[in-house]
Amino acid sequence: MSNPYHPPAVGVLDQGPELIFPPGFLWGAATAAYQIEGAATEGGRTPSIWDTFSHTEGRVVAGHTGDVACDHYHRMPSDVRLMAELGLKSYRFSVSWPRVQPGGSGPANAAGLDFYRRLVDELLGHGIEPWLTLYHWDLPQPLEDAGGWPARDTAGRFAEYAELVADALGDRVTYWTTLNEPWCSAFLGYGSGVHAPGRSDGADAVRAGHHLMLGHGLAVQALRASRPQAQLGITVNLYPVTPASDAPADVDAARRIDALANRFFLDPVLRGSYPTDLAADLREVTDFGHVRDGDLAVISTPLDLVGVNYYSRHVVAAPVEGAEPEPYWRAPSCWPGSEDVRFVTRGVPVTDMNWEIDAPGLTETLRRVHEEYTDLPLYVTENGSAFVDAVVDGQVDDVDRLAYFDAHLRAAHEAINAGVPLRGYFAWSLMDNFEWAWGYTKRFGMVWIDYDSQARIPKSSARWYAEVIRRNGLAAQ
Ligand code: FCB
Repeated sequence: MSNPYHPPAVGVLDQGPELIFPPGFLWGAATAAYQIEGAATEGGRTPSIWDTFSHTEGRVVAGHTGDVACDHYHRMPSDVRLMAELGLKSYRFSVSWPRVQPGGSGPANAAGLDFYRRLVDELLGHGIEPWLTLYHWDLPQPLEDAGGWPARDTAGRFAEYAELVADALGDRVTYWTTLNEPWCSAFLGYGSGVHAPGRSDGADAVRAGHHLMLGHGLAVQALRASRPQAQLGITVNLYPVTPASDAPADVDAARRIDALANRFFLDPVLRGSYPTDLAADLREVTDFGHVRDGDLAVISTPLDLVGVNYYSRHVVAAPVEGAEPEPYWRAPSCWPGSEDVRFVTRGVPVTDMNWEIDAPGLTETLRRVHEEYTDLPLYVTENGSAFVDAVVDGQVDDVDRLAYFDAHLRAAHEAINAGVPLRGYFAWSLMDNFEWAWGYTKRFGMVWIDYDSQARIPKSSARWYAEVIRRNGLAAQ
């Protein structure tokens, strides 16, 4: 294949001896509640920060909202049948906090929990392992009104909510992850403000990051106490951060962004401490006065697994005086204290998100977590790509997405060969969905969604993935 990003046809990837994954490798696909469920006001659900944000003019492209999304709330049984047809071994979904605990405090909402009970039963009935994420960004609006994640109290609320869900589903769900991508919640939600709740304050972002991790630790303790058999973890989004050159200033820029993007979460959760260089870099932003004695012990409560979401690499350079050379851009305000660092585009193929395709970065990321941080089993809990798809004669031939998956699965296999205890992989996403600030304009799904008719069409990548799962591996190149 001359260009790995543009394979001529699906069948070509089927040549050669197979690259086999370890027995029992957990092949899955992922979604998140607000991105697919719809039914925003049904069954007692109340608004989350994403309802408020998406209904605020100018926040989401074209004014899109998750009100209907993929209507999964009503189509769940047939969606699970589709998962079974694809042969998924596991399905990673998130529970909507305001659906099961309207307003974010008080007793559970039986109708909300019932939806997830039915989902889990449906999955188990089809032999699909449920993988439950407690928080994929949909904070109940009243908790935001009370201060949101920058407020310490939110961490305790999250642990209470976790207990409600564990009481209802703990007898049938083995795999639990607390947070999805706390970096995004903290730094996009409270730093740059491009995600809900749309606030923009560096110190708040840092506080939010801490309280998210505190909530994670408290939730793990609560879940561990009530469900000792459960497999507990967290999902972090990680990036290799590479300096644009060997110049010491570029190397230092990479160190700073690595601290904010990766070590901000990995160090407290897996080592029980904040990196010392991070605190120095953030000197002008915060004195970390929000960190109390004992917090880091809670945050580093032992886990059973770590989930890694991987999409791309950051290549960064030091600030320059004067005019900006193309194709550089400055780091937006989601990097408090390091806003002057420039993110370099290398001219390699990109996805429809403009994210550079960098499969070796997945191997590098998994090896780093294993070699520098932990022996725990790792799972790729998200990996995938947006491309512009089209339905032609009732089919969606998404060769670019298929090639992206193929390249990243090879990279995952390489990590396993290098000794990483990688136990599973979840494609993002099962189906096209509400891509946050991009609304429905970006398609990440292996299954096409027609948002007018709600028809589902498995794309070429879905059929290819089904075959990968069936033989527990892929063809060598
Ligand atoms: C991740 C999110 C997920 C989806 C993908 C594209 O950051 O966890 O919900 O939006 O990016």
